[in-house]
Amino acid sequence: MTLAQSVNDMSQIVNADKAHVWHHLFQHKALENGDPRIIVEGKGMRVWDQKGTELIDAVSGGVWTVNVGYGRESIANAVRDQLLKMNYFAGALGSVPAAQFSERLIEKMPGMSRVYYSNSGSEANEKVFKMVRQISQRQHGGKKWKILYRERDYHGTTIATLAAAGQPERAAMYGPFPDGFVQVPHCLEYRNQFPDATDYGVAAANAIEKVILQEGPDTVGLLCLEPITAGGGVIVPPAGYWERVQEICKKYDVLLHIDEVVCGVGRTGTWFGYQHYGVQPDFVTMAKGVASGYAAISCTVTTEAVFDMFKDDASDPMGYFRDISTFGGCTSGPAAALENMRIIEDEGLLDNTTRMGERLMANLAALKEKHAVVGDVRGKGLFCGAELVADRASKEPVEEKLAQAVVASCNRQGVIIGVTNRSIPGFNNTLCLSPALIATADDIDQITGAIDTALTEVFG
Ligand SMILES: Cc1ncc(COP(=O)(O)O)c(C=O)c1O
Repeated sequence: MTLAQSVNDMSQIVNADKAHVWHHLFQHKALENGDPRIIVEGKGMRVWDQKGTELIDAVSGGVWTVNVGYGRESIANAVRDQLLKMNYFAGALGSVPAAQFSERLIEKMPGMSRVYYSNSGSEANEKVFKMVRQISQRQHGGKKWKILYRERDYHGTTIATLAAAGQPERAAMYGPFPDGFVQVPHCLEYRNQFPDATDYGVAAANAIEKVILQEGPDTVGLLCLEPITAGGGVIVPPAGYWERVQEICKKYDVLLHIDEVVCGVGRTGTWFGYQHYGVQPDFVTMAKGVASGYAAISCTVTTEAVFDMFKDDASDPMGYFRDISTFGGCTSGPAAALENMRIIEDEGLLDNTTRMGERLMANLAALKEKHAVVGDVRGKGLFCGAELVADRASKEPVEEKLAQAVVASCNRQGVIIGVTNRSIPGFNNTLCLSPALIATADDIDQITGAIDTALTEVFG
């Protein structure tokens, strides 16, 4: 499909979409008196809709995914070549790109050693939950089955991952959920939950220890955290937090699972978000940026110590990991992921992410100086948020519709930004930015320039 396509063709597409497509996280009533937007083409940081309107995409495909940008011919070629040679075989057998990508990936993740392939972030996270439950049965006599997750974090859309959702608006009405999921407090210092703390990072981590002690350490098997919370408000943990979290996990023999579905593969300027903090996880999951959306792929990565627990007794027919992921056997995923990784390396995109991320944060800080409605700006690399408040002193969040109006104004100016959406009740007030890792200084300035105009338009 090209932009040269006739208006007639596009109206058919629009009608077909309107009549038959059910869009994700979307109230379709809005389309009764309007047309859906169809994204027709993309190149670099920019996309074009059915009317030929050009938009700069500051959210990498809406959900922080297209890390290397649109229109990458070399990824398309790598996938095409692989599909013609061998498109699919179930994961019980190996494939050339799966073996190659696992080796390249593990080189970037000291201490980790095994990659289990599947095809979405939710699925990758559920694999960990299943592994932990099986470890509980086989290693701990049924103890250590509980899974801790953090308020404001999100780990996916399936029933089990929603059981681990720290975002009530995502989980509401989809229960009842499975047992054994327990919430720990969030660590966002701007929304201070530990006013007496002298060291906020340590206090927020100690709150996890408190939950472990309340539940009983022999019941807790896993702590699942995002390295930097994404959809819950772009929360960069305070200094000292991760170090203390690691100590607590070691002390109580709790496995540490870091959900890198958003931060993984470059988003924050390192290969993985946790690598900013010197922690050593037992599980790392990743999806979105692994192949930048050129193919569906997710990975559940773990250590040799965990892996060994599933091959310790070959005489036990129930002893190994009895999981299946049909589409984990698609070779397009690792083929695209290999090329995606090569691009990040050859084009120096980690370094660009750090430099452009600093520019983005500086621009957002300038917006905070100028607009009283910007209460807090947070971020690392090209992963930033600006929390909007009605009043700086009370920190009362702006009404959701006003945050949405800022997004709409940016859209009218040709810039797609995001906002926390159906996340924490009353707190869908943080603007979210995650431009592709190829962003230039001009791109960054165009994005924050549009936000500046939008804030003036909406709040005066
Ligand atoms: C941190 C995090 N984990 C997991 C997921 C779920 O990924 P998927 O939508 O690919 O299932 C998401 C999706 O936004 C996410 O942000």
